[in-house]
Amino acid sequence: MPAADMDLIVALCKNRGFVYQSAEIYGGFRSTYDYGPLGALMLRNVKDAWWRSMVQLRDDVVGLDAAILGPPAVWKASGHLDTFTDPLVDCRKCKERFRADHLPDPDPADGQVHCPNCDSTDLTEARAFNLMFKTHAGPVEDDSTVAYLRPETAQGMFINFKNVLQTTRRKPPFGIAQVGKSFRNEITPGNFVFRTREFEQMELEFFVPPSDSKEWFEYWVETRHAWYVEHGIPAEMLRIRPHEPEELSHYSAGTSDVEFTFPWGWGELEGIAQRTDYDLKAHAAASGETLDYFDQTTNERYVPYVVEPAAGATRSMMAFLIAAYDTDEVGGETRTVLRLHPRIAPYKVAVLPLSKKDTLTPTARQVLTTLQAQWMCDYDETQSIGKRYRRQDEIGTPYCITVDFESVEDAAVTVRDRDTTAQDRVPIAGLVDHLRSRFAGAA
Ligand code: GAP
Repeated sequence: MPAADMDLIVALCKNRGFVYQSAEIYGGFRSTYDYGPLGALMLRNVKDAWWRSMVQLRDDVVGLDAAILGPPAVWKASGHLDTFTDPLVDCRKCKERFRADHLPDPDPADGQVHCPNCDSTDLTEARAFNLMFKTHAGPVEDDSTVAYLRPETAQGMFINFKNVLQTTRRKPPFGIAQVGKSFRNEITPGNFVFRTREFEQMELEFFVPPSDSKEWFEYWVETRHAWYVEHGIPAEMLRIRPHEPEELSHYSAGTSDVEFTFPWGWGELEGIAQRTDYDLKAHAAASGETLDYFDQTTNERYVPYVVEPAAGATRSMMAFLIAAYDTDEVGGETRTVLRLHPRIAPYKVAVLPLSKKDTLTPTARQVLTTLQAQWMCDYDETQSIGKRYRRQDEIGTPYCITVDFESVEDAAVTVRDRDTTAQDRVPIAGLVDHLRSRFAGAA
């Protein structure tokens, strides 16, 4: 997709109710976004698809929903208070701030680094800027009430390791999965919802015997890449990129990213990291709790190693939108169509009575009620049927059900396929089974 087409995605998101600028009526709040009626459905579908693959279809992963607010002790032990920083440079002239690693190279003419905003060379030295949002829990704002919004969901899994082990009687290899909001005071947010200060993550901490961690790491890199392909992102839009040693996070002994080719270039969708025993050991040392595993079959006590596939839900949603965006010609007219995987599409089915006339409404409503029990459905009775098909194509609805005047006589409806636009006549009595077999488990 050419770079300019990002504008089309942003426009579609706004015009169709996927994503709005947050606090827009007050001029907008930079780098925060609200998910509109379609965005809320789609984001939920992305998270549900992840949960289905990572928790529901596995017997070696359990779920967790941990607190967003945490005390400094957690973030001190995890290393985030000391090392979760970006190098920051101030321009003394225009007062803008930049990540040092995002500044241009020195200008060959004068050998100096220039401010990207005002071209001044009067820049400060780089200094560490912590990305965590700090707040106070309770009515008193002093050092004793400091709390942080989590910058990753992962720590909730580590500090609950013992609880989960005891209450579920799992043994490594097993994982704890979590989906939820994380917050980072990004210095340079941007590219729409790609990098924001408030975002959603889908993370798995997979605890394994140390000697098996390399094998599990390879397994998870492959499995996570396959998940995006299974959900409709063409393999040629994805790549696996191992991190250079200097880009590794403070906890990682090795990371590979699943990257997607965004309109502006390759960008990370998910990182699969070898976190070793870094976190469990750090929390054990800081809390005084024993965070290890005793294997009764081998009489061995060890601190499990962790392999962590960490994905962004909001960022993935954007990748799904970009990958699905297409235009083609139907009846001599250009149409926009989102070829979303049915599991990801906001609506699975739209019920469209051919006319608003009272003769059709009861049948159309009855069809809607039947289908709503199975799938998320839209109902639209305004404008011409052609325009309504286009609208559903543009928001990625896999099937439109048209209720026409014959439907009242023959108790049958037309099922229109989003991708091929082919239409089939189907008895209302067999409609659910018909759609179920066409979805073939994909919705
Ligand atoms: N627990 C490991 C961890 O948080 P990460 O690579 O920093 O690793 C994981 O984050 C994923 O979360 C990223 O691959 C990305 O999809 C998403 N993510 C991270 N920062 C983000 C941001 N500022 N805005 C949107 N998504 C973000």
